[in-house]
Amino acid sequence: MSDLLLTGIGLLTTNTAEPIPDAAVKVVDGSVVYAGPETDSPEQGGAARIDCEGRSVIPGFVDGHTHLVFAGDRADEFARRLSGANYQEIAASGGGILATVAATRSASERDLYELSAQRAGRMIASGTTTVEIKSGYGLDLETEMRLLRVARQIGEKLPVTVKTTFLGAHALPSEFRHDRAGYVDLVIDEMLPAVAGLADYCDVFVEDTAFSAEEARRIFQAAATHGLQARVHAEQLTRSGGAALAAEVSAASADHLDHVNEEDARALAAAGVVAVLVPGASYSLRSPQAPGPMLIENGVTVALATDCNPGTSYFESMGLVMSLAVVQMGLTVDQALFAATRGGALALGLDDYGMIAPGAVGDIVILDAPSPAHVAYRPGTNLAWKTIKSGSVVAG
Ligand code: NIG
Ligand code: FE
Repeated sequence: MSDLLLTGIGLLTTNTAEPIPDAAVKVVDGSVVYAGPETDSPEQGGAARIDCEGRSVIPGFVDGHTHLVFAGDRADEFARRLSGANYQEIAASGGGILATVAATRSASERDLYELSAQRAGRMIASGTTTVEIKSGYGLDLETEMRLLRVARQIGEKLPVTVKTTFLGAHALPSEFRHDRAGYVDLVIDEMLPAVAGLADYCDVFVEDTAFSAEEARRIFQAAATHGLQARVHAEQLTRSGGAALAAEVSAASADHLDHVNEEDARALAAAGVVAVLVPGASYSLRSPQAPGPMLIENGVTVALATDCNPGTSYFESMGLVMSLAVVQMGLTVDQALFAATRGGALALGLDDYGMIAPGAVGDIVILDAPSPAHVAYRPGTNLAWKTIKSGSVVAG
């Protein structure tokens, strides 16, 4: 928690009003107290001061969907996919999620923390100030709890806000391959009660090759009794009913949505479910991007996220995700920037995040560029000149 005065801002994006040229921002005790024209700026007082020298300033990125805690990698599968194998075939032959489950089960909590903290550190250096982290590479009680503990530790030890999600229903573990119902019962009867204190949300991968909407409905009903709101991996590889279910159970978000249609979009909008789109996954799988513009036209709040995971989307940079959303998905720069900041905050129920306005948390990125359009326009260059968390410079 710090006091900070930013001056010389060339263009300030607040997410509450039109961008402001020649602006200043003041943060006191970690929260924004002023965001507006520099001519009306409050005094520096005892605050540290940074002259932005004409650079643009945006809210910190809110990455609302990651599988950050895992061991190993799947570069071999990436190569197989490039030679023509598809994701589902690789999973059916014992690779895919289960390959990462095997590597993750055999990693110690300390090793998992080190691997995950390195990824989180690179995210922070590229402007991320809040991240959602799912379990889902344990698929047994002990390992799922280990992943959630590591996720919580990231938020305690690093300058990033963390929200955790239990994704026990990510895939059917091999020891249950002949007993689907038994695994769903295990998730409901043993895992959910045990992980409830470590998780903020419960997710299910609703897909032909994972769990049905009916199985997910049972899991979400049980999760609700433990105070965990739903998030849904929905319509990623096929249209499997995940979006309609997300609307039915008033989920916090429906994620991926590559195969969502207008009927689903209207249901999501009516239920206030945020669409978390992950263009890195569609890019890596070489599949069509989710229809972001259609969702926005139908009144759905859209968020962008990295989906950081070793199988479908080994992305850590929200800037790169923004670029994909603009170039491949068809969002405008303004829509993509809002989705990558305020949209993510709304997906995570963080009302005071993802904006720069009095009362908001002082999570800010100074871009080494005159406008946020450069983030989409110059993919692969980290334009986060400084990342500021609660008023303290934490990178750059
Ligand atoms: O979001 N869709 C399911 N889960 C991940 C992929 C996980 C993996 O392949 O390891 C995703 O794409
Ligand atoms: Fe995912």
